[in-house]
Amino acid sequence: MDFCYTETAAALMRAFAGECQAQMRYTLAAALAKRQQLPLLQKVFQFTAKQERTHAELFMKAMQQHGLTAREITGSYPVDPQDDLAAILEAAVQHENHEADTVYPAFAEAAQNEGFAYESNLFRSIAEIERSHADRFAMFGQMLREGTLFREETQTMWLCMHCGHLHFGTEPPKECPVCGAVQGYAVRRRLAPYTAE
Ligand SMILES: [Fe+2]
Ligand SMILES: [Fe+2]
Repeated sequence: MDFCYTETAAALMRAFAGECQAQMRYTLAAALAKRQQLPLLQKVFQFTAKQERTHAELFMKAMQQHGLTAREITGSYPVDPQDDLAAILEAAVQHENHEADTVYPAFAEAAQNEGFAYESNLFRSIAEIERSHADRFAMFGQMLREGTLFREETQTMWLCMHCGHLHFGTEPPKECPVCGAVQGYAVRRRLAPYTAE
């Protein structure tokens, strides 16, 4: 059977299209967060966008390995709400959960039924990652809605992502005393990469 006409080929192409769009939606959301003086959310979106790019790359490689040159697909893809980071985060949680619960498991099963073990495993592995994306966006979305991005009930360590200055308290300083960066650069140290507790 020509690979082009398999369900797996359609699934790979749909997954590639979806990942490309997720990558772009998060890149645009990152730019919006930057304009809104929220480098913390800018970095959360950029971090995730980079991972979506890698997913797209993995799906592209799989299609290339099968010699696929084109495949027509129809699909419905989301449009983000305008200029509203909380609404964008909420939409992102839904899209990521939909991929994790429904879209990728169905793709994995189709690939498995057609005997494509590598592709089936890839869909399952990426479904798990999308679940972690949903969890991350949900956590930051909740903080944004509740006004706790830069506030915590108990004293905690905050890190300025611009210069690395550490501050212990219930809130990070409005302006970093070392580099002058706005509060939007602050992150709880426990949520920052590469830092020891
Ligand atoms: Fe992805
Ligand atoms: Fe994702």
